[in-house]
Amino acid sequence: MSSEPAPILSARDRPDWSVTAPAILTPRGRGADDTAASMVRTLFDRPRWLEPCHLYDERGSLLFEEICELPEYYPTRTEAAILEREAGALMGLAPVECIVELGAGFSKKTIHLLKALSRARGRGTFAAVDVSATALMASRSMAEELFPELAFTGLEARFEDAITSITRDIPKLVVFLGSTIGNFTPTDMLHFFTHLCEHMGPDDYLLLGVDRIKDPKIIEPAYDDARGVTAAFVLNAFTNVTRATGAGFRPELIAYRSGYSPERTRVEMVGIATETHRVDFPRHSASFVWEKGEGILVETSRKFDPDDLQVQLRSFGLESLGHWTDPNRWFSLLLFRRSKDSHALESK
Ligand code: TRP
Repeated sequence: MSSEPAPILSARDRPDWSVTAPAILTPRGRGADDTAASMVRTLFDRPRWLEPCHLYDERGSLLFEEICELPEYYPTRTEAAILEREAGALMGLAPVECIVELGAGFSKKTIHLLKALSRARGRGTFAAVDVSATALMASRSMAEELFPELAFTGLEARFEDAITSITRDIPKLVVFLGSTIGNFTPTDMLHFFTHLCEHMGPDDYLLLGVDRIKDPKIIEPAYDDARGVTAAFVLNAFTNVTRATGAGFRPELIAYRSGYSPERTRVEMVGIATETHRVDFPRHSASFVWEKGEGILVETSRKFDPDDLQVQLRSFGLESLGHWTDPNRWFSLLLFRRSKDSHALESK
């Protein structure tokens, strides 16, 4: 494994990043204050909500890995099976030497793509982007052990910071798996694609993994498992907020609820107050009364019609190159390329 320098970042932006651990970089000047500010901003919005990235502190990242193994949680193994079967074909359609994975987690499913990359080109680069240092260290160990011929870089960052700073000079496959795109609000999803497409070079590809609309009886248990791992994962967000902001959330007064809304084609996951109580934010000289039964929306998981999504993404200049699914049609992998048209427009 070679970990230096970090050619994955543009020469212009490289000075804005610092090394926090071997082969792991983080944007300078982004720190605890930004995290706390983002939490307070949404908790004082109505209805109250939290951004998805706050689920992934160390404990959250470990709990999420546990969710991926649950019998009720079908998306991970369904997506992994499609990837295992199609990785060779996929890498054939996207002839790049660099894979950038957004929201990489422990990068277990990515192994199939890295294998195909390594087999086809014998060398290359793997950049994992995640807000969780724990996850990046797990990805790094995996990459070092299984793919010493690939250069690994971990970017401990929010997606937008990583997307802004990644070089346009190397053709790459941007990989966004696990239906993480479904965790954005509709507005954030539009911003995400606008920003991503602005920064994609002419020879870049995008691989999206999305969970599909299906019978709620299959979806709901995936977000409310019998062992309560999902409940612990979602409620851990409040522990993370408490640590980051000094807020006085009381775990014993928060219950987990989730349900699928067919109108919005999404699962909604909330923390509910079991009693009316005040939550103090002493560092911000603020507080709110959390009414009994009021939910704070911690996460949503939207489900997609892959054909509709392909149409929608065309308007961002993303041309569809392939669509793979499983025998049940529960999950889809979609491959896109920046369409030549959008570049023609850009250069005018
Ligand atoms: N991207 C995953 C999904 O939407 C994230 C996830 C899985 C999740 N289980 C969760 C998020 C439970 C919050 C709560 O399926």
